[in-house]
Amino acid sequence: MKPHILLVDDDSSLLKLLSMRLEASGYKVSCAESAEQALNIIDEKIDLVITDLRMEGMDGMALFQQVQRIQPQLPVIIITAHGSIPEAVTATQQGVFGFLTKPIDRDQLMQTLEAALASTSRSEGKWRSNIISRSVIMEQLLQEAEQIAGSDVSVLITGASGSGKELLANAIHQASPRKKKPFIAINCGALPEQLLESELFGHTKGAFTGAVSKHDGLFKAANGGTLFLDEIGDMPAPLQVKLLRVLQERQIRPVGSTETIAVDVRVISATHRDLEQAMQDDQFREDLFYRLNVVNLHLPPLKDRPEDIPPLARYFVEQAAERHNPRVKNISSAALQVLAQASWPGNVRQLENIIEKVTALSTTPVISDTAINRALANQEQVIPNFNDARADFEKRYLNKVLHITEGNVTQAAKIAGRNRTDFYKLLKKHHLEAANYKHL
Ligand SMILES: Nc1ncnc2c1ncn2[C@@H]1O[C@H](COP(=O)(O)OP(=O)(O)OP(=O)(O)O)[C@@H](O)[C@H]1O
Ligand SMILES: [Mg+2]
Repeated sequence: MKPHILLVDDDSSLLKLLSMRLEASGYKVSCAESAEQALNIIDEKIDLVITDLRMEGMDGMALFQQVQRIQPQLPVIIITAHGSIPEAVTATQQGVFGFLTKPIDRDQLMQTLEAALASTSRSEGKWRSNIISRSVIMEQLLQEAEQIAGSDVSVLITGASGSGKELLANAIHQASPRKKKPFIAINCGALPEQLLESELFGHTKGAFTGAVSKHDGLFKAANGGTLFLDEIGDMPAPLQVKLLRVLQERQIRPVGSTETIAVDVRVISATHRDLEQAMQDDQFREDLFYRLNVVNLHLPPLKDRPEDIPPLARYFVEQAAERHNPRVKNISSAALQVLAQASWPGNVRQLENIIEKVTALSTTPVISDTAINRALANQEQVIPNFNDARADFEKRYLNKVLHITEGNVTQAAKIAGRNRTDFYKLLKKHHLEAANYKHL
């Protein structure tokens, strides 16, 4: 079915031009010459609204706010005259999907439009329905995830704490042909070595003191499905060797047994640690790293995708209301704006916790900015661990020198007092691209 776009502009010639362009690209298009008219047209069948900002009567922002009320999942893109950037920033913080400036660039139009359409899970498979996002970086990441889901390649998911690594691992499993078989997660940092080994590979009866009966282990339990090795960076070194062998031979040997058992398991691992650094410090085996990291998916921290904050916040309000306080119906735009400007060292998990608390305690049906401000002020300070804090500093530092030098690596390396090779390594480590800093 063709995606159905509603175009809103009081300039009828622009309306005609844009609608012809979109129809030629294979979309179904409806037109409205005012926001009021648009509101009469909007129903479940519309997949996306593109509206001009300045219009007689109700303007584009007011239309967006109405749409939020009647169809909160419906993405809205706003067209602005060149130069109204501050307005664009405010509006994005309230959840507008994107902006196009006049004159409208074809590629940009298509890119924004496709991202918007992909963000409404209606047109998508179920696999990603739990992942709420509207940023272009998340969209690209999810498309990459879907592409590799079908094959059995090992995936390493990196990203800061609370950024959604486990959620993504599970979604990849759901998008894969293994989805009917188990998805099993284990935290490799939470157990001492011997226990972790028998958890993973199983043990025979009497293999060690306390092994009163035979235990199959998670590799066997996940047979045909996916095993998620969380915090792989914390796996003790002797076990790293054993894991590598299992992955190479596709066979496990339970503790205390002399026999091996064939297993068919897809492995997805995750870590918030910097494994390149761990390898340099001889804490993580390089050969295992290459086995696990056939594909690397990096989840950006929430601060690199502030557009995701409003839809995430709305989603968490809905969930928390259902669970704890059904009187709560919504969150105000002012409250969303406060959230979008706050800092989130604990990423999505921290946002989720705050919203849950505020929703549960709310005495009004619409969550206000005052309530959010109070909750933000009262929360226990999240102190990141030393490695996370250092990594965060490094990234901000690199960002700054790249900005100053407009992406000139030679110059940037000189300022940083590093040689070019080292500097490139640092950029790679932080997923930064010098080219992105040119002519800003
Ligand atoms: N894009 C998203 N949409 C909806 N919920 C999300 C999203 N990202 C994260 N969450 C929620 O945030 C919480 C943290 O996510 P998750 O446990 O996947 O993070 P993590 O990266 O594995 O964190 P950690 O490193 O601390 O283990 C979960 O409750 C998850 O459901
Ligand atoms: Mg996790």
